[in-house]
Amino acid sequence: MISDKMNKALNEQVNAELFSSYLYLGMSAWFSEKSLNGFASWMRVQAQEEMSHAMKIYNFILERGGNIQLTTIEKPESEWGSPLEVVQEVANHEAKVTGLVNDLVDVALEQRDHATNIFLQWFVTEQVEEEASVGDVLERAKMIGDDSAGMFALDMEMAKREFTEDEE
Ligand code: FEO
Repeated sequence: MISDKMNKALNEQVNAELFSSYLYLGMSAWFSEKSLNGFASWMRVQAQEEMSHAMKIYNFILERGGNIQLTTIEKPESEWGSPLEVVQEVANHEAKVTGLVNDLVDVALEQRDHATNIFLQWFVTEQVEEEASVGDVLERAKMIGDDSAGMFALDMEMAKREFTEDEE
């Protein structure tokens, strides 16, 4: 059984992961409209990953005898000035999510909830990977700048990413 405080904090994270999925889905649409289909596909995979993160926490709450409290998902931003601006926002957003995961670990430790703490370690590691992967794309997008040929080459590479259960 988890405490009310832990239950509430985990439910808030389900919402945050669903918001992330929604945000990235909107970014995928933005790239599709710009015919940057590799970026669009990368963002769609990113959105799928976030949905799987939400479900991982959702399943954990139920497994621990907690209760699910679904709430409103905020409307994400949908207009950006350039591909670089979008990628920068992904990087900023992931840094924010890392902070939320760290806060959740703090609650688990404060509640002496060792099972939830162990469960959350997967997310701590996942955030290291997520920040590194988007950081790499960000650096390359910065180097490319306004060079459209460079952006199309990066777009082709972005198309290679596929959703796998391992990435969950
Ligand atoms: Fe679920 Fe991108 O963190």
